[in-house]
Amino acid sequence: MSEKHAVAENKALELAEEVRAHRSADHPVSPQFISRWSARSYSDQPVSDDTLHTVLEAARWAPSSSNLQPWRFIVAKTDEQLELFRSFILPGNRIWADKAPVFILLASSKLNDKGEPNGAHAFDTGAAWGTLALQAHLLGLSTRAIGGFDRAKAREVLDVPDELELLAVVALGYRGGLESLDERFHDREKPSPRRNLSESIIEAKARA
Ligand SMILES: Cc1cc2nc3c(=O)[nH]c(=O)nc-3n(C[C@H](O)[C@H](O)[C@H](O)COP(=O)(O)O)c2cc1C
Repeated sequence: MSEKHAVAENKALELAEEVRAHRSADHPVSPQFISRWSARSYSDQPVSDDTLHTVLEAARWAPSSSNLQPWRFIVAKTDEQLELFRSFILPGNRIWADKAPVFILLASSKLNDKGEPNGAHAFDTGAAWGTLALQAHLLGLSTRAIGGFDRAKAREVLDVPDELELLAVVALGYRGGLESLDERFHDREKPSPRRNLSESIIEAKARA
């Protein structure tokens, strides 16, 4: 690991004041999970190919049903590729996402090796998104997933085969200051809270 990456990783393992102001864990957990959040602002700093590959490498090691690895990453990083993505990202998201230096369209193969439906493909590609986002965070980058894009248009523009389901676009880049973000989003540029863990846990019980 490079010194630059080690510094970024140490930072991700600290809870910055802005994170502590909005988030607290109900139970002990590695700070990397709490300090990741989806900022909308991006700086002009480019993302190197090495960094991008490390982010995708983390996704590669996600678990998947029968190790089918259904995830596919359609990457945009040149001006021409970014412009293609902007053509199908919905206007409300473009207000902030237009400044992202990299987009990754997360596609997922719906079929297994025998051409049969893989019922777990979206679950598995979602797991890959989770590891990708955490690795980006550990490298000092921000990610924000975008479900608000025109899937039919993306398929047409990028010539994506029917066998791949288009799940989300991920914007990736180094976080910028508020001056780089449209003021309509300033109030929301902060870590979001979570409901209490107890509200998500359902005690298993047999039907009476
Ligand atoms: C599948 C998916 C789709 C999303 N779509 C959008 C979107 O279209 N626009 C947007 O601004 N944020 C989008 N988000 C970001 C979520 O709103 C955000 O992750 C959530 O509020 C939790 O905040 P955090 O990631 O900062 O912890 C999406 C997230 C996911 C996982």
